[in-house]
Amino acid sequence: MILLKNGRINQDNKLIKKDILIDEGKIVKIADEIKGEGIDLKGGYIVPGLTDIHVHFRSPGFEAKETILTGSKAAAKGGFTTVLTMPNLNPVPDCLEHLAVEEELIKKEAVIEVLPYASVTVGEKSTKVSDIDHLRSHTRFYSDDGVGFSNYDVLDEALANIAKYDLFIASHAEDKILRYAPAGEYEAVRREIEHARMNHVAYHFCHMSTKESFDAIRAAQKEGLQITCEVTPHHLFLNEKDIKNPNFKMNPPLRSKENQQETLKALLDGTACCIATDHAPHTLEEKSQEYDKCPNGIIGLETSAPLVYTNLVKTGIATLSQFEGRNPFQG
Ligand code: DOR
Repeated sequence: MILLKNGRINQDNKLIKKDILIDEGKIVKIADEIKGEGIDLKGGYIVPGLTDIHVHFRSPGFEAKETILTGSKAAAKGGFTTVLTMPNLNPVPDCLEHLAVEEELIKKEAVIEVLPYASVTVGEKSTKVSDIDHLRSHTRFYSDDGVGFSNYDVLDEALANIAKYDLFIASHAEDKILRYAPAGEYEAVRREIEHARMNHVAYHFCHMSTKESFDAIRAAQKEGLQITCEVTPHHLFLNEKDIKNPNFKMNPPLRSKENQQETLKALLDGTACCIATDHAPHTLEEKSQEYDKCPNGIIGLETSAPLVYTNLVKTGIATLSQFEGRNPFQG
């Protein structure tokens, strides 16, 4: 039994002081006061376990940046109980044998629930579809994040499988010529919405950051297409004027103030279904290089919930219930 004393929980969008009794991982009692020895939370906010559908834990392959142990500990510290890990790894989880390497590490190291994305294409190279037929019994989640799609015939072939087996695809939409420019994102978004339409498939966009992308997604949703997207804390709370140093270099990059405002608007009007951190650590050496040389990616798991709480809930922009959201994969 674990007794949590003097915590606060969300009741009708107000934080109310409660004690909580937990037995074998299940909440068995919530009351104003439960007698007994417990952990004093000193008024701390007890949040239902949060889910982040977009993190990079770097293992297998890039353990100098992060491991499943360090990443999942950071997630737990930030209030997350479930995270989905992106497949830009070595080996890329594009077949069962490769996925098994990551699954083994998750079994050994994860301190919370860690669900792996498999890649959509072999090696995330857009030339051949991954072995979805076999992978699907191990994961519902598919992405070529960090790279994006450059061959739309291969994407169509993948989407036929995604639709047939009712799987989840998350796209890093980036035009290969326009790259990091705003149009690099929204041109790819517009194109990929057409592929989702043609293939009658639900389609999710990662880390959206431009007005035009949100407009395209909003219009597709109005038409009844099953298009969803996520936004990141950094695109919600920062813009290109705020900061320019290697620790804040990421892809997509920070955008204009107008795009920042559109990101918040998309979250509040439901165009974006969730906040996802895109937690993407690199080594100190890599991030100590000058701006143009250092790799894209910043961390976010430990700061996401506090940032959202401070900037959106405390200011009255969002309610506690909006903040707590719900696990999109639990119906
Ligand atoms: O900033 C980023 N870093 N964006 C991505 O899409 C990939 C990620 C990484 O893997 O480092």
